[in-house]
Order: sequence, then C-alpha cells, then structure tokens
Amino acid sequence: MDRIRIVGGNKLNGIIPISGAKNAALPLMIAGLLSEDTLILDNVPRLADVAQLQRILGNHGVDIMSAGKRPGDHEYQGQTLHISAADIIDTTAPYELVSRMRASFWVIAPLVARMHEAKVSLPGGCAIGTRPVDLLIMALEKLGAEMTIDGGYVIAKAPGGLKGANIDFPKVTVSGTHVALMAATLAKGTTVITNAACEPEIVDVADCLNKMGARIAGAGTTRIVVEGVTKLRGARHTVLPDRIETGTYAMAVAMTGGDVQLAGARPELLQSALDVLTQAGAIISVNNEGIRVARNGAGIRPVTVSTAPFPGFPTDLQAQLMSLMACADGSSHITETIFENRFMHVQELARFGARISLDGETATIEGIKKLRGAPVMATDLRASVSLVIAGLAAEGETMVNRVYHLDRGFERLEDKLSACGATIERISG
Ligand code: EPU
Repeated sequence: MDRIRIVGGNKLNGIIPISGAKNAALPLMIAGLLSEDTLILDNVPRLADVAQLQRILGNHGVDIMSAGKRPGDHEYQGQTLHISAADIIDTTAPYELVSRMRASFWVIAPLVARMHEAKVSLPGGCAIGTRPVDLLIMALEKLGAEMTIDGGYVIAKAPGGLKGANIDFPKVTVSGTHVALMAATLAKGTTVITNAACEPEIVDVADCLNKMGARIAGAGTTRIVVEGVTKLRGARHTVLPDRIETGTYAMAVAMTGGDVQLAGARPELLQSALDVLTQAGAIISVNNEGIRVARNGAGIRPVTVSTAPFPGFPTDLQAQLMSLMACADGSSHITETIFENRFMHVQELARFGARISLDGETATIEGIKKLRGAPVMATDLRASVSLVIAGLAAEGETMVNRVYHLDRGFERLEDKLSACGATIERISG
C-alpha cells in the first residue's frame, strides 16, 4: 500500500492549481443517467472516487469516454468525460461496487425516475458516523415510489412514473437534496423542496440539469421548485472548482507560512472558511486568477468555530482547521454539528504532540509551539489530509499511511505541494 513521506518545516511558495470539485463531479456524472443523449463534463478531477463511479455507471450500461489531452492543455487540466446512457441495461447497483463509495447510492434517483425501478445496495463510504439514507428514501416515497429494503438493498418501484410532491426535509441534507432534485426533473407535475441544502455543488448540478432541459428554480436557496419534464437532452457543463481542496491548501499555507496563489479558486464558495483564516492571522486576497494566501512571521491566532451547512464553515474542513489550531497561540474550540463521529483525526494529531481534548461534539485545542513528525494513518479522506498539513509544519519526518483515502479526493496532492517547496513524496508498495 502506498505511503506519503513528508519532511516538515518548509514554507509553501508558488502556485497551486485547484481541481474540479469531487462532490460536484460525482452527482453530475450520476445525472448523466437521466438522459439518452450524451452529457459532456469538463474539468472532472482524476480521482479514485471518479474512477469507481465510472465502474458503477458502466455496470448500468453507461458508456463513458475520457477525452485525451490536447496541445496547449495545462498539465493539471481536469479530464473531459463523455457520458452516454442511451441504453440502461441493468437497474441494480450491487453491494461490491456501492459499498466502496457512499455517493454511488444516489444512482437510485435517476434510475427510478427514468426506468421506473432501481435496486441499490445500502452504501458504504468514509467512516464518519452512521450516515443513514432515511431522508433519501422519504424523498423518493413522497415522489410516489414504492420503497422497500430487502437483503441490504433498497428497492424503488414507480410503475407509472414519479409524481411531483412537496418534500420538506427535517434536517439539511446534501445527499437528500441531490436525490430529490434529480428524481423530480422527470416527475409529472411540480415538486417543491423545502429546507433544501444550499451547497454550491447543488447549484452546479441544478445548472447542468437546466442545460439538459430540466426546469429548476431556486437552487442555492432553501426552497427549490422543479417543474417535471418528460425527457432530458444532452448538454456540456464544466465542473466548478473544489472549495474543500481550496480551503485545505489555504490552511496548509496558514500553517507553514509562505505565499501561495490558489489558481482558479472562487472565494464565494468558501467565504466562511476564508473569514476564519483571516481571523487566525492569514492574509487572504482575491485577484483575477483566484485566491492568494500568505502568512509571514506572525503567529496563528486561536479561533472558535462550529461547522454548519453552507454558507457556514464546512465539516469537510474541520479536521484541517484542527491541524492549524494545534499550533495556535492559545486555546481554540471546534464544534462538529454535521456528523456525530468526525473526530478520528484527534488521536492521530496527538501523535504529532497536539493537545486536543474532546467533550461531546466539541474539541478544545491547546496550541503548542511546534509539532513533531510521526507515523500516522487515518480512516477518512479529510482526516487524512489534516495529517498531511500537520506533517508539512512539523519538525522532522512524517509517514502518512493508507494513502488511498487521499487518492479518493485530492488530485496529485504530492505534486502540487512539492511544486511549492514542500518535501513530500509517495512511496509505492
Ligand atoms: N442524514 C440523515 N439521513 C439521511 C441523509 C443524511 O440523517 O437520509 C444526516 C447525515 O447522517 C449527516 C447529515 O444528515 O449527519 C448531513 O448529511 P448529508 O446528506 O448532508 O451529507 P452527504 O450528502 O452524505 C455530502 C458530502 C460530504 C460532506 C457532507 C456535508 C458528497 C459526495 N459528500 O455528504 O463530503 O461532508 O455532504 O457537507 O457530496 C467528503 O467529501 O469527504 C465528504 C464526506
């Protein structure tokens, strides 16, 4: 299994190109199931999760062509995928495939909307809590699907097609909103989704669906209205930049010091995180090419932060912020409100010497002057990258094990960081 070796202590200086967002690319690829025509997606990141979803869609009979690079393309340019779901030959998504990635469960929505039936294994994914799918099932039931669970599979049937409905989510859910939105595009009549998630990835998917002929209004607000149509057509769409990758590198620079341009980043996608970084002492400026992050000399100031649905501070940056706060001048408090068990990084950060105590959903971090490198591993994607950040700032050598988690969500992580002066390498095997 690959490992990543880091020798910490170098400041980061240079340019980091930001990739397309994993959490938009995945639902966008799934949306390709809604049409017989080809959906072309540009700026799709080259990630293990994308490759895994290609396998899952392939199992349904979807042809996916990945266009090669063209002269003049930047070496980091994302890939272009041509997704053609002309013939769906299988409406079952098996356990072997879905158990590896939670988002693949979402295929249930386009399958039942277009094919009127779907059988999808209950999902797996990152170990960050129980992560049920009850609200996704509720949304499809409201739209008229008959839902049963049998042998670890969720079976959805709607022989006469889905029908528009009012779907009121009792809690904000990104997955629930994606599923309701995709399914409602082909339902008969009007669907109103209330307490909808406002995440930029929802807006990106809604934009793409509208290009495909869907009639969606209000994406990005808590009330989304969908007028069902009988068919969706092909379209071409560019995946928006990854706000979590942007925030992760911004935290890395805030921790190591230096000056980095995050090329292609869009500040409005992560304003709350940029505000927290400014409060912590980083210098953030926005220019035509993206976001510039710097920290020179001054220490890191402690902060008190709670994660929240967009536009709040994202749970997917909570672990990275904790690494940063491990070296703050004082004590910080970080409360996790989205997932009940997203603190696996705490124990591993302790291996660097970090002083963190947990009380329910709140972590108190007593900053120390310097972390010391250590062998570490993590059980989820964002926790893994928080260990990389800690390693970049720590004295001496860090070995990050179980790198496959990082490969699920960070494109060419070690290349991007070493281009900015980090001593970081992948050790294969
Ligand atoms: N929830 C339920 N019932 C449901 C669905 C969700 O109780 O049927 C709960 C969850 O257990 C959680 C909360 O609602 O406590 C929010 O879950 P949500 O549905 O919003 O999360 P998700 O769609 O499963 C996506 C991202 C996550 C990100 C969260 C929150 C993708 C592929 N995943 O997950 O990203 O943390 O939204 O923003 O978009 C990651 O990229 O590392 C990652 C975990």
